[in-house]
Amino acid sequence: MSIVFQENKSLKELNTFGVEALANYFCDVNSEQELIDIFKDEKIRNLPLLILGGGSNILFTKNFNGLVLHIKIDGIEVMKQDSDRYITAGGGVVWNDLVQYCVNHGYAGIENLSLIPGTVGAAPVQNIGAYGVELMDVFESCRAYDRIDKKIVEFDKRACKFSYRDSLFKREGKDRYIITSVTLKLSTVPHMVLGYGAVLSELENRKIQNPSIKDVSKVVSEIRVSKLPDPLTIGNSGSFFKNPIIEGDDFQKLQSIFKDIVHYPIQFDKVKLAAGWLIEQCGWKGVKVGNTGTWKNQALVLVNYGNASGTEVYEFSETIINSVYKKFGVKIEREVNII
Ligand code: EPU
Repeated sequence: MSIVFQENKSLKELNTFGVEALANYFCDVNSEQELIDIFKDEKIRNLPLLILGGGSNILFTKNFNGLVLHIKIDGIEVMKQDSDRYITAGGGVVWNDLVQYCVNHGYAGIENLSLIPGTVGAAPVQNIGAYGVELMDVFESCRAYDRIDKKIVEFDKRACKFSYRDSLFKREGKDRYIITSVTLKLSTVPHMVLGYGAVLSELENRKIQNPSIKDVSKVVSEIRVSKLPDPLTIGNSGSFFKNPIIEGDDFQKLQSIFKDIVHYPIQFDKVKLAAGWLIEQCGWKGVKVGNTGTWKNQALVLVNYGNASGTEVYEFSETIINSVYKKFGVKIEREVNII
């Protein structure tokens, strides 16, 4: 089967920051077989590779001199086993379409992850998470094309080495595996995760005492819409930075100076800080610099007010990192992939 590559393709419409960048070679991928065929071509096989899903976690600071594969593998399948539901979705399925499909069918487990931008295939890469739930909590397995062994391989949860916004696919497996489908283990018996302050208080406001997964999905979606800018009108890629994790001892010192520092204790004497809070305390919340800035309702989100270049956004992010480091001695890291 012959694969058609587009040359010098503009990626502006394919990244939610909406910045311009060109790809030398570009190709949509609709099936595992197409991937296998693409990598049969020796010239293509040796090009630098970029996998693009929804383009919602990427900032282009330059053109991509290589091959961009846009994963569009479709389809949702359900396997029933007692009250468990094993849901397999193609890597190109829009994540929130899968969430809504599951919520509408009464399959519980990912309702807290409503409205996260991006595709199913990208979800394991950074172990997406929100409102007390991470993908790893419901992840069963995934399939991927292995560029070294040139075949489709399968990963169980353990093999993916998930942690906060991290996985094998971001580290040692980067550039090697291309995720083609993901299987989640959901249930018709909901185990609600409602501990997150904003969700709880919004449910209370609405006097919902025994929320259904539809209620949770609706509330989460509305909180996100109220806090985060819509990429269709203002370019952004959600949280630009990760929440930093620091040692308990370092935290004690910080807290003695900054009494109201927002934090979450996590395992092994480590503490997670809210990067949005740190950035806001440095005076950056809602600040506009040229064509870029931080979002008015959430300082963790950098935005493109129209004509920002990727470099402009990147340099602004550098200013923020330095500013937070100067005030708190904490080095925040980017969550977004920089090209
Ligand atoms: N905060 C501020 N100022 C800000 C932003 C936040 O003081 O400008 C404070 C809030 O008041 C709150 C705390 O920081 O006390 C946490 O804020 P929020 O609930 O908005 O969550 P977050 O830690 O900033 C993380 C995820 C989001 C996810 C939310 C909800 C990361 C990097 N981000 O943000 O994920 O939706 O929690 O669970 O972990 C994403 O990854 O793109 C994303 C949006």
